[in-house]
Amino acid sequence: MSQGITIAIDGPAGAGKSVVSKRVAQSLGYTLVDTGAIYRSVALLAKEAGVDWQDDGALKTIVAALDIRFNFVGDDNQVHLGDRDVSAAIRMPDISQGASLVSAQASVRAGLLDVQRNLAGKGGAVLEGRDIGTVVFPQAEVKIFLIASPEERAKRRHAELVAKGQDISFEEVLADQVQRDAQDEGRELAPLKPA
Ligand code: DC
Repeated sequence: MSQGITIAIDGPAGAGKSVVSKRVAQSLGYTLVDTGAIYRSVALLAKEAGVDWQDDGALKTIVAALDIRFNFVGDDNQVHLGDRDVSAAIRMPDISQGASLVSAQASVRAGLLDVQRNLAGKGGAVLEGRDIGTVVFPQAEVKIFLIASPEERAKRRHAELVAKGQDISFEEVLADQVQRDAQDEGRELAPLKPA
């Protein structure tokens, strides 16, 4: 029996990776791993523990103890830390910024490699992120690098945040995105780039 393939979907924030990976995973009956949600969870736990988003040593401890699970409910890919549903909390703008910062730390990236590979399991899996095709699953059978214009991406993110009841302007979303893009593309470790 075929165990399925690994599909990597990488690209910048707001390009549409989540929607595409969700639909692909649903139609193939594959496991879906939203790796951005994992970095976001580390940022959330750090904030709650009063740990600086650039404190590599303290972040390493948080990553080592990370107990994360995804749960598909209808069309929702819920994120759980232990018994807690953190799906909404990890989407807050300050956590987006924190995720981008923690993701530049060596111990965080190294510690999350196994977490991501284990969550993908042994069967078919769709993983969305920044470095899936280059670092996490370089052997993935399918690698997609999804892009869209910065304005279009910010427009989509803004609409998503407003729909979730957040009071934020388009300009703020665009400025935050420009800053995150620069951080994600410019970092030394596993920078955002096509495989
Ligand atoms: O896709 P996202 O916006 O939820 O990702 C949040 C942050 O996590 C993003 O700024 C970069 C980082 N990230 C990463 O470095 N590597 C990944 N595979 C996924 C996300």
